[in-house]
Amino acid sequence: MERRNVGILGATGAVGQRFIQLLENHPWFNITWLAASDRSAGKTYAEACAWRLDTPLPAHIASMVLQPNTPEAAGSNLPRIIFSSVDAPIAKELEPLFAAAGCAVISNSSAFRMAPDVPLVVPEVNAAHLEVIESQPTRKRSGGYLVTNPNCCAIGLVLPLAPLAERFGIEKLFVSTMQAVSGAGYPGVASLDILGNVIPYIKNEEEKLQEEVQKLLGKATASAFQPLDATVSAMCNRVPVLEGHTECVSVKLRKPATREEILAAWDEFQPLHGKGLDGLHLPSAPVNPVEYESGDTRPQPRLDLMRGNGMATTVGRLRPCSLFDWKFTLLSHNTIRGAAGAAILNAEILAVLGKFDFRAFPPVNASAESLVSA
Ligand code: A2P
Repeated sequence: MERRNVGILGATGAVGQRFIQLLENHPWFNITWLAASDRSAGKTYAEACAWRLDTPLPAHIASMVLQPNTPEAAGSNLPRIIFSSVDAPIAKELEPLFAAAGCAVISNSSAFRMAPDVPLVVPEVNAAHLEVIESQPTRKRSGGYLVTNPNCCAIGLVLPLAPLAERFGIEKLFVSTMQAVSGAGYPGVASLDILGNVIPYIKNEEEKLQEEVQKLLGKATASAFQPLDATVSAMCNRVPVLEGHTECVSVKLRKPATREEILAAWDEFQPLHGKGLDGLHLPSAPVNPVEYESGDTRPQPRLDLMRGNGMATTVGRLRPCSLFDWKFTLLSHNTIRGAAGAAILNAEILAVLGKFDFRAFPPVNASAESLVSA
């Protein structure tokens, strides 16, 4: 695989820093462009960013200068792959400009997740939805397009749900979350509010989780999505945990399943190693996206967070549910699998599917405006 240049929009933020950490030494991608707000443009990354990860800020990134956040300003230096981690209102404004300028915009933002022609993708779950990018207007004009990854809780949840949906069908789902403070970015929730406490509200989170699960497990046609026909109810809570979202799940299946059948469905779930996707070898994909942990007191954020390099969902405590059929507890790394790692995995599958082959489209230094009005 030839190494491709990539850019990061929102590079100084909590997820932007994870992008930089996870892309360091990535075999397929090479960071050549960084941008954040106008406040940061012109500063070096080290000057503009308060690095908060537990690995050192790479020296070559520290000295890179943050660019203005428009495609025009970058001209021919604009990489054709942009990872975006800006807040939704800013994403709404900026991401379409980059797609119009011919970039593949791989977004972690919620701004376009539910748009009818934008795929919301977890490669192990619904890679086929990526074909919908071909119906995006910018794709036809410039080759550019938008792809999104889901909300941090939805990603951890759909990994164990996908093999259950495929083998037994899902009729009803109830999920209650315990979400880490890192999910709120920095500085996030005030320490005086969260220490020794639980906050039973995260703005818009329950709605996002419910609708995104249905889109992810639903069907895609050439230009539209049909959500999963299931009743989904979510309750979201913020808890004083640094990293790792825990979710308690009850599920009603359309066909009866035994405990052994459910465990086998998870154990055999290796979707990137079958169904025509064999041999993809995506560098960030865990071999087993769902790992079952049989100890009574697992999964736990402190013990199970980094399974599959932070890309696997750990599931435990599978047991009968007196309301629905089965219940279980899961844990997922919210800023790796739930954010930057998810977007990078989306980029990896786009690469092997040939969606970064832009040769048929106009050169990238064409201005976004001329492409939009073309
Ligand atoms: P900056 O550091 O210059 O403010 P977080 O979610 O952790 O708060 O990060 C938000 C990211 O989005 C940061 O990189 C921030 O940059 C960036 N950002 C904020 N406002 C804008 C804007 N108007 N245009 C582009 N990026 C922005």
